[in-house]
Amino acid sequence: MAPSVVLTSSPLPRHIGIIMDGNGRWAQRKKQLRTQGHLEGLKTAKKIVKAASDLHIKFLTLYVFSTENWKRTAEEVGFIMGLVKQYLKAELDFYRENRIRIRHAGDPEGLPPDIARELAEACEDTRSFEGLQVILALNYGGRDAIVRAVGRWFDSLEKLEKGIPAKITEEGIRGCLDNPDIPDPDLIIRTAGEYRTSNFLLWEGAYAEYYFSETLWPDWTEADLCAAISAYQQRERRFGGGNP
Ligand code: FPP
Repeated sequence: MAPSVVLTSSPLPRHIGIIMDGNGRWAQRKKQLRTQGHLEGLKTAKKIVKAASDLHIKFLTLYVFSTENWKRTAEEVGFIMGLVKQYLKAELDFYRENRIRIRHAGDPEGLPPDIARELAEACEDTRSFEGLQVILALNYGGRDAIVRAVGRWFDSLEKLEKGIPAKITEEGIRGCLDNPDIPDPDLIIRTAGEYRTSNFLLWEGAYAEYYFSETLWPDWTEADLCAAISAYQQRERRFGGGNP
């Protein structure tokens, strides 16, 4: 990796989330099919996963497919699901070599059964790896994640036959999210010059630092990741606490 930005010793973000946007526009500009943009987007994702692992980032959440992305054409949805399947199969040796753990955020029940199975297997096969944790946000929506968390909480209470809790707490809801052990993202990156959260990590991202890049995702490089981390390192995080 040849970063154009030299990172300082300031703390690295523990958890980075990326909204990988701009695959379609990348393809359009090159007069290619949108699917070609997703193929290039997958190559970029692999590059960035390796870079994050080399930088000793602990958690990387990639927004692969949202609960709203089902509105796209059947051809595009089928292509992205095919890419995900291929990625999960082909990268296993890479995860093993780099001790990368794969995890899932999102509702597995809405996924095609073969994808849900591959994903569950990849999560299981890499469960013991202590390096970077890559969280694939797949059939993921921030609102849906909160609704499912509240549902889980109520279910667990019903099972305990305690009924509805006297007090609804943040800790109670947070503890029922898909991956309650994963710390909140410190840095959320969005590529391709869009300035929206698009339903990504709504709960967990409450105090994330946002970084927006004009570059389309297929053109993103390790140097862009370093630039985003460097910008993060210059931010002053107060978590609502005011100036010292
Ligand atoms: C957004 O670009 C991209 C997606 C909805 C799909 C992201 C999928 C990949 C990068 C490939 C799979 C990756 C992994 C890690 C398995 P867009 O299509 O909305 O672009 P546009 O806004 O320019 O149309």
